Amino acid sequence: MSTVHVIDHPMIQHKLTIMREQETGSKDFRELLKEISLLMGYEITRDIPLDDFEIETPICRMTAKKVSGRKLAIVPILRAGLGMVEGLLTLVPVAKVGHIGLYRDEKTHTPVVYYCKLPEDINQRMVIVTDPMLATGISMEMGMKALLTKGTPKHIHVACVLASPEGIEHVKKTFPEDKTTIWCASIDEGLNEHKYIIPGFGDAGDLCYGSKL
Ligand code: URA
Repeated sequence: MSTVHVIDHPMIQHKLTIMREQETGSKDFRELLKEISLLMGYEITRDIPLDDFEIETPICRMTAKKVSGRKLAIVPILRAGLGMVEGLLTLVPVAKVGHIGLYRDEKTHTPVVYYCKLPEDINQRMVIVTDPMLATGISMEMGMKALLTKGTPKHIHVACVLASPEGIEHVKKTFPEDKTTIWCASIDEGLNEHKYIIPGFGDAGDLCYGSKL
């Protein structure tokens, strides 16, 4: 069972409300998603390991701490997960980025992995898998399973903005608690008959990359 954190910081909740409003167009939605991702990243990286570095201040030498380059990988699930990458990279510019692509099979309606490219040293990294919506949890399951065929990261953080109780349960029962943590800004009521999160904010991919200005 994985652990779940709802990040209820007022600035995140404020931005989330604007994202939910139906008047919000793609440009603002993308910008808010980037900002929320950066703020969520601040919490997610709270336990990221630091290395000691000898530095020289204008006054004297000291041993100080820095995130060393090889600790973090950001892995968006295409396509909406891409919208969370820039904010996280603003926070941790040295992170490497992998990509997992999924499409929905028209007959079975199940997600199929068509692309999985990850940093070679994924075993040595903490990974943040991004998808703004954790709806049924099946895309996240398939994405994470594809990732795990390439290696076993030190820890996987699942970063989404909205989660449904069903999606959380699915990920929790599929992946072990000591290796997986789920982060979101809200656990919404549930899913509608089209498997959209309610109240949600609609199709995150279309909102990010659609033509609604
Ligand atoms: N994917 C979306 O983009 N929105 C939802 O509500 C559920 C899955």
